[in-house]
Amino acid sequence: MSKIIYNTLEYKSMHYDPRNDQRPLPYDPFKSCTVPRPIGWLSSVSLQGVHNLAPYSQWQNLTFDPPLVMFAANGYPDGRRKDTVVNAEQTGWFVWNMATWDLRHAVNRSAQAFAPEVDEFKEAGITSAACVDAPCLRVAESPCHFECRYLSTQRFPGNSYVGNVDVVFGEVVRIHVDDAVVTDEGKINIPQVKPIARMGYYDYAVIENVFEMRIPGEQAAADGLEGRSGS
Ligand SMILES: Cc1cc2nc3c(=O)[nH]c(=O)nc-3n(C[C@H](O)[C@H](O)[C@H](O)COP(=O)(O)O)c2cc1C
Repeated sequence: MSKIIYNTLEYKSMHYDPRNDQRPLPYDPFKSCTVPRPIGWLSSVSLQGVHNLAPYSQWQNLTFDPPLVMFAANGYPDGRRKDTVVNAEQTGWFVWNMATWDLRHAVNRSAQAFAPEVDEFKEAGITSAACVDAPCLRVAESPCHFECRYLSTQRFPGNSYVGNVDVVFGEVVRIHVDDAVVTDEGKINIPQVKPIARMGYYDYAVIENVFEMRIPGEQAAADGLEGRSGS
């Protein structure tokens, strides 16, 4: 039988309640535990036609059928909501661009808090490409894009000066993959693309190595994990 530790004092580790306790470490461990986080490098457009681009590491796919995504945007210190949220709500669209090692400096530049009337594609120094369905632009240098239809926003109150978070949900209605990054087998060549991901602090990771692992004896689950089209 495996051993169960009932007395938490046996652990040589700290624990704390993030709602009420003073943080016992000099830097917040929360974001550093949930790693690596894929980066939602999101483009959107305002009702006035200003193109916007910003990275969001509170970004995820929620499920694959239907392909749903979410991102969470904390407010600006002055209480304003993020432009990406406002644009998604007002136009009904946002677009995900894959953030890669080659594009890391452009990703970083696009995180600056520009005024809503500033075209962030120009500021980030990247080329834009039109979408098929969405009114937003795509980052032409990025190998993969999702055109996302805005679904809803859930707002949660926070405790810090950037508290109050907008969690935005969307459905992916068009997926773009550059032919140049598809292997002979028909898979995205991730070590070639080198997506970057957020860690905690100022740290990032780059995905250069992948390994394969299959569940023993469970063909149905394995097929689902493989993601074969039609399964
Ligand atoms: C890699 C990276 C990830 C980020 N993730 C988030 C995030 O998850 N939520 C958030 O509110 N801000 C995040 N930021 C900060 C926003 O990108 C920044 O506030 C940006 O100016 C928002 O732009 P917008 O108002 O045009 O949407 C991140 C910044 C970087 C560099």
